[in-house]
Amino acid sequence: MRLNKKIKLLIAADGGAGSGKTTGSKLIAKKYNLKLLSSGLLYRYVAYKLLRTKKIKLKNYYLKRLTKNINLNDVKKEKLYSIDVTELASKIAKIKMVRNLLKNYQKKFAKNRHVIIEGRDIGTVIVPHADLKLFFVCPLNVKAKRRFKEYRKTNKGITLNEVKKSIKLRDLVDKKRKISPLRPAKGAVTVDTSKVNKKQMLIKLSKIVEDKLKEKYGRNL
Ligand code: C5P
Repeated sequence: MRLNKKIKLLIAADGGAGSGKTTGSKLIAKKYNLKLLSSGLLYRYVAYKLLRTKKIKLKNYYLKRLTKNINLNDVKKEKLYSIDVTELASKIAKIKMVRNLLKNYQKKFAKNRHVIIEGRDIGTVIVPHADLKLFFVCPLNVKAKRRFKEYRKTNKGITLNEVKKSIKLRDLVDKKRKISPLRPAKGAVTVDTSKVNKKQMLIKLSKIVEDKLKEKYGRNL
């Protein structure tokens, strides 16, 4: 479905690791033809470059240069999901300068007409003026099982317990950090993904999106 050109739609989707926000965002992006940014990829990208160039001591000039020329297509996606990149991404996401530099990229992206951005602080910090804010939730056990299935495809040795621990720690770090902590934005709609499959998730999300569009534009799509 292509939204009318007169319609402007900006959706912020936040939630913890494995909460279903990426899957949900992809589903609605596809259905409504929205441009999608998974902002976690930006943190992963910076972490990956830092690891690769061994520039772990964060030098301001290097970070500035790196975040000015972000090209998410120049790194294979699976490389951004390795364990060491995932861990470092979570650590550098606490640094004010990193967040500020990545903010520019996200704000620029939000200027597109039909957009969804998913992450941790999208509705609270990046685009608090978004038309629709979603907050994805899911119990740790379910999240861990979901991620475990995915990780097993590339990492046969990983255990469910390891995945669970890693998700728990990342969520804790994101929630407790001083800058841009993970929390629901004001007015966010909570999306519980614990008992839904993809098809049900799409139905649930479509209803939320279309209700919002009706509220904003006062007519059916
Ligand atoms: O969403 P994803 O797991 O790819 O994000 C990787 C890491 O980036 C997270 O663990 C989180 O610490 C950080 N992140 C963030 N703010 C965002 C998106 C991701 O702090 N908006």
